[in-house]
Amino acid sequence: MLIEVGNKRQSADFEAEPGEKLLYAGLRAGVPLPYECGTGTCGTCWGRLREGDIEQGWEEAPGRGRLKPERGDFLMCQATATSGCRIGIPGEIQGFRDDDITPGHHVVTLRDWSDEARDIRCFLADFPTPVSFHAGQFFVLEVPGLPGFRAYSMVNYAAETKSLEFVIKRMTGGGFSEWAFTREVTIEGVRAFGPLGRATFHPDESRELFLVGGGSGIAGLMSILDHAHESGHLRKHRARLFFGVRTVGDLFFADRLRALKAEHPDGLSVTVVFSHEDEGAVMEQSLPEELNWATGFVHEAAISALQAEEGLPDNLMAYLAGPPPMVDSAIRSLIVEAGLSPGSIRYDKFS
Ligand code: FES
Repeated sequence: MLIEVGNKRQSADFEAEPGEKLLYAGLRAGVPLPYECGTGTCGTCWGRLREGDIEQGWEEAPGRGRLKPERGDFLMCQATATSGCRIGIPGEIQGFRDDDITPGHHVVTLRDWSDEARDIRCFLADFPTPVSFHAGQFFVLEVPGLPGFRAYSMVNYAAETKSLEFVIKRMTGGGFSEWAFTREVTIEGVRAFGPLGRATFHPDESRELFLVGGGSGIAGLMSILDHAHESGHLRKHRARLFFGVRTVGDLFFADRLRALKAEHPDGLSVTVVFSHEDEGAVMEQSLPEELNWATGFVHEAAISALQAEEGLPDNLMAYLAGPPPMVDSAIRSLIVEAGLSPGSIRYDKFS
């Protein structure tokens, strides 16, 4: 089915398969449609149906909150076409970098479930053929019997690989996460689409890294640090990581971070920020001495630390990953209080 998208300034067209999400069809065809989450929560991918027929998909999608369905508004990451369509979109049809990687559909196998902390698990996804991605990107996954794609950032980095590592947090009532916390076996036939996301790290940009992640938001930041380590970036540029968890019992990846810090004693600093722990309780725990720690909200601790430094480095790039209120607050503070330009902030919001 031919899908035409555009506005007064731009237009493009692409083919969509029956049952294929319109956003994924466009991105797969190399049309850089506007999106952020890819899973129905942010609302960025909205379009207005001018001609043709669609099925809306997930009716309760939070991203629909501000749309006007009576005027034909819908989410391209949820809807599928049942005929050729003409769609008006307000957002820019614009790529990010020349080396953007065109996403695609895959069928993957999930295996090696491991418990990392109280409500945190890691797992591997095996792809039938090698895939490429930029550090900081994510895939969306849909398991058999649980309709709907969920987004997961890669923890590892490799220029090309058949095996991606993901981290998942248990969410009360979250269908996929509840499902994932009862798996011990290999699961075949999982649909995957990606890579997606623009909170990406590129060594050729020669930036100092300021990384702030809450909970499972650490995943994409680990991938960035992995690439920064492997590419030699950390020998030339500093990186500061602020990792927010609720309590000491919720901390995970401490060993990986300690090992990375040992490789880069001067180039990397790691601060774990506990939001639901007082200082006395933290001091009683035996935390790795290579890691700094603080209490409070991770974005506030990170920005306070940045403001305490003398002058902001010209080449700082901030990466923020976590729930929307945390990321929105951090963006505001980085721009208003720390004086960072919006172009030097990349983020990945997830619920
Ligand atoms: S990209 Fe569709 S709602 Fe976020």
